Amino acid sequence: MPHHVLMVASEAAPFVKTGGLADVLGALPLALHSLGEDVAVVLPRYRNADAATGERLWTGHPVWLGGVCYPVDIWRASRSGVPYYLVDCPPLYAREGLYTDAAGRDFPDNHIRFAVLCRAAIALARHLVRPRIFHCHDWQASLVAVYLRTLLAGDPTLMTSKILLTIHNIGYQGLFEPAILPEIGLDATLFHINALEFYGRVNLLKGGIVFSDAINTVSKTYAAEIQTPEYGCGLDGVLRARAGRLYGILNGADYTEWNPETDPFIAARYSASDLSGKRLCKRDLIALVGLPDDAIERPLVGIVSRFVGQKGFDLLEEVAAELLQMDLSLVALGTGEPRYEQLFRDLAAACPSKVAVRIAYDNVLAHKIEAGADIFLMPSRYEPCGLNQMYSLRYGTVPVVRATGGLDDTIDESTGFKFKEYTGPALLRALREAVAAWHDPGRWHSLIQNGMRRDFSWLASAAEYQALYRTLEG
Ligand code: ADP
Ligand code: GLC
Repeated sequence: MPHHVLMVASEAAPFVKTGGLADVLGALPLALHSLGEDVAVVLPRYRNADAATGERLWTGHPVWLGGVCYPVDIWRASRSGVPYYLVDCPPLYAREGLYTDAAGRDFPDNHIRFAVLCRAAIALARHLVRPRIFHCHDWQASLVAVYLRTLLAGDPTLMTSKILLTIHNIGYQGLFEPAILPEIGLDATLFHINALEFYGRVNLLKGGIVFSDAINTVSKTYAAEIQTPEYGCGLDGVLRARAGRLYGILNGADYTEWNPETDPFIAARYSASDLSGKRLCKRDLIALVGLPDDAIERPLVGIVSRFVGQKGFDLLEEVAAELLQMDLSLVALGTGEPRYEQLFRDLAAACPSKVAVRIAYDNVLAHKIEAGADIFLMPSRYEPCGLNQMYSLRYGTVPVVRATGGLDDTIDESTGFKFKEYTGPALLRALREAVAAWHDPGRWHSLIQNGMRRDFSWLASAAEYQALYRTLEG
């Protein structure tokens, strides 16, 4: 069945999620569909794919790479009229982690895992979907562009299709040793500065940038930032060379999942016109994480995050002593690098009456924190878009953010608090301002009201993608 747009990505909610990419792949295709766009999605079928993965469509389709055959099955699940095709190849995808083993090490065959995903997507495109647009997400899908514009450039079915690459995070580029090229069926001549070569290694995201017809990232500010050496992670020059084809489209927030008026996970539902439920949610959260009852009388700061360098928690470490002096409570939920997990454990151990920490991935608790906290903290070193600050606005939880990327584009002085300089004292100043505002009920009320009335729903972003597809088709 032909579809106009075929998206390729490594995760999509509700099938499988490690971060915001999955939220986007869960919501954007449906928003596009509601605008009349004909869209389908391809992703791997991991062991943890926990939603129904539908019906088996193909069995044992051979994907040949570098003289090795990887037979794949294709499953199809439909979500509100959008088909999600899941590529099933248990030796490659049926593992505990998506990208890394239990110790956090990248799987050594990630290049093959995502090359097979891309080749399977192209096979689906050729035999079934016949898309006019391939919409690839991040380095895991970048090989679609490389294959289509090199090895398969003469394919009559696909040669007029256009390719859009969305970069969700330039910190992850898919870097490998040059020896992998034959294993993913690519010629050694592609190990070239104008193609995949990057400081002596193979860079798959660079391949996506070079061979796609257009590139976008997930906020306007981040689109500008990644063209600078400070934020480009070495790819700023390649991106500047493609500046005329580089766009910024802000992500949306999925208000069917994140809405305090309907959220099934929180203790009480509430809205901008009746906030009484929010206090119940705060009380519930305090009890759940084991903070003392009188924490209800203090501002409660929430964090829900991957614990990685990007998210700026080294700033918290820098000002930990001052933070623990402040008259507030902190509840943090996340998993990631041992260094940051330890930092949060140490904070909780140093001051259990003020700090509660859960080292876990827990969607229900994430909702309870959005609803129960007063302030939501995102001190990111960089943030391509960031979704949690948008969820926070809807839950009447005032964001304190570093002014970078999508955080800068979504928060202003009428809805939250921003700091620019990447330092601990700058973070503390913003947090102190927020706490002072919390003690001024009139001011706090208007911050909450302004935030809850902001609308970052997906439809506006989807319309921008649709316009970009039209531009691509010329
Ligand atoms: P990123 O994609 O960089 O992790 P985003 O803000 O775009 O950042 O998206 C993060 C998403 O992942 C949000 O939906 C957030 O609620 C969720 N999330 C992150 N860590 C956890 C966790 N430990 N438990 C539950 N949800 C989490
Ligand atoms: C990435 C970014 C995050 C963004 C998400 C979805 O994981 O870190 O800022 O919101 O992708 O685009």
